[in-house]
Order: sequence, then C-alpha cells, then structure tokens
Amino acid sequence: MQLTLKDEILQRFLQANGEPISGQQLADEFQVSRTAIWKHMQSLQQEGYTFETIKKRGYQLVAVPDKVDFGQLKQLLTTERYGQQVHYFDSVESTQFVAHDLVRQGAPDGTLVIAEHQSAGRGRMMREWESSQGKGIWMTIIIRPEIAPHQAPQFTLVTAVAIVNAMKAMFKNFTPQIKWPNDILVNGKKTTGILTEMIAEENRIQALLIGIGINVNQQLEDFPVELHHIATSLAIEGKESIDRVHLVAQVLNYLEQFSDQYVKNGFTLIKKLWEESSCTIGSQVRATTLREVVEGEAIAITDSGVLEIRQANGVVKGVYSADIEL
Ligand code: BTN
Repeated sequence: MQLTLKDEILQRFLQANGEPISGQQLADEFQVSRTAIWKHMQSLQQEGYTFETIKKRGYQLVAVPDKVDFGQLKQLLTTERYGQQVHYFDSVESTQFVAHDLVRQGAPDGTLVIAEHQSAGRGRMMREWESSQGKGIWMTIIIRPEIAPHQAPQFTLVTAVAIVNAMKAMFKNFTPQIKWPNDILVNGKKTTGILTEMIAEENRIQALLIGIGINVNQQLEDFPVELHHIATSLAIEGKESIDRVHLVAQVLNYLEQFSDQYVKNGFTLIKKLWEESSCTIGSQVRATTLREVVEGEAIAITDSGVLEIRQANGVVKGVYSADIEL
C-alpha cells in the first residue's frame, strides 16, 4: 500500500502534534489546490478524524478514530522492511489466508497483513481464534529469512521475545511472561498467541508467516464465558484502554531488530532473553502432546526450541509440541 495524498495530509497533522496548519500551507506543500486539501480532510472526517478550526491559524487535529491507521503506523515505525508494505482490512476470514496468497504473489520480506476483525481466525492445532472487531491486534507478518527449514520453530521464540519487549517498553503496571512455546501471559492469563507457518521448498525457506493475535482492548464480557478463566486483555490487566497502533509499531520494531540479530548471530541471545521472560522454566508442568502426557519440572529449552522436562524418576524428556498446564 503506497501513501496517498490523504495519508500524507494525515501524517502532516499527526506530526504537528496538535498545532494548527492552514489549508494554504498544505496546498503549497503538496502543490495542489485548497479545494483538493479540503476534500481529503472531509473524507478524513468521515473516517472519524476530528478537526477544529482555529481562527487565523488553520485546522487542528483533535481526535483520531480507534482503528489501526496506516499513516500513523508508518510514522511510528523505525524498521527498514517490517511493516513498510501494509495490507489492511476491515474484516477477513484470517490474515494467515491472505498472507498465503501474498507469498504466492511474491510479497517482499516484512509485508504486514492486518485486520480489524477475523471471521475465521485460527489458532494452533486448527483451533478457533476469537478475533472481535476493533478490540485486538490480528496480524500476520510475512518474512523471508535466510535460514534452514529446521530453524523455523526458533522464530516463534524470536517473536515471543519481541512481543514481550514491546509490551515491557509500553506498559509499566504489569509484567508479561512467555509460556512455552507461544503464549504471552499477564497475571497468569493468556493475552497473546503466535502461529508460525512455513512455506518451504526442499532445503530453503520461501517464507514464514508469523501470525500474532493480541487481546488488547476487550473487557471480560467480550470473551466467551468458557475463556473467562484463561484469557485476558492488556486493557483488563492494565486498567486502561490502549492505543493499538503504538503496540503494532513497537512489536514490528522489536521483531525486525531481533530477527536480524538472530539471523546474523544465532540463537544464543534470543534463548537467554526468552528464558529471562519465561514463566515455564523452573515450574512444574503437565505437557499434553498428541501421544502422551509428560509431567515434571521444565528445566530448559534446547537450541531447536524443544522444551526439556525432568520427570520424577530423573529422566529428561524433550517435548516438541504440546499444551502446557503450569
Ligand atoms: C494460538 O495461540 O493458538 C495462536 C493464535 C494466533 C492468532 C493469530 S491472529 C492473526 C493470525 N490470523 C489467524 O487466523 N491466526 C493468527
């Protein structure tokens, strides 16, 4: 998605931080008529942006709608690639499905697919993922790292570390923790899930689709009753509503930084950061895999992202994929 004149006008107002800008000034800057500027501002008003007229000084942006705004996102990104191409939707079945199509069409590294609502959001093991309108962050990032297919699971851990760092940078009144392999918990309840899918040919990764679902501004009644004891949102835990676009930008900024660091220097630092934020390592766990139930103390993750559990008889078992109860 390229910036249109309307996006550029909006960016100009956002950068002005509430200072008024005159119609003539905008017309001169963008070399269009004042009528053209006025039409775009009217269209922004219809999308929920509110401008006030300040006598002799111009227009002031006083309110923005609660949607993940592309122009605003662009301004907050410090990335070179992640989020530089955005496919934004009001509603889709699943951002993962859209991302699959985009990979086939050759979408570049870092392409972001983001939606306000998903009608068929998917979690791990083909479970449903509740994705209510405008309340959360439902997005998939297409990345094309130069790594071997067997390293792909480590990217789920890279992503978890990036999300936790983004949350820690933004929220001081709670501490997010990672539950192996892909959940971010706050106060013991799930706020975030990660779904990593790989498209590979022989020994080469064509693309990884990193699906991220973050419960942001839901209240308890927005969740189905059966999820009340296990799911929560950042707004519930932080007791205030949250600006989603800032969080999307922070996640992408950290994700590009950690992905590049991982591709260049390997898993050691990521593993350390992951373990520091983990609530799994050192805890007694019950891991339900497709074949068995393994109980014991979670002692480490290996370089391939496998969770090691020391059972009561002292035998250490590696678990590749499981549901974990702490
Ligand atoms: C899980 O914890 O089971 C993973 C949940 C992943 C949900 C995200 S929301 C954006 C992307 N689109 C989907 O359909 N799923 C992922």
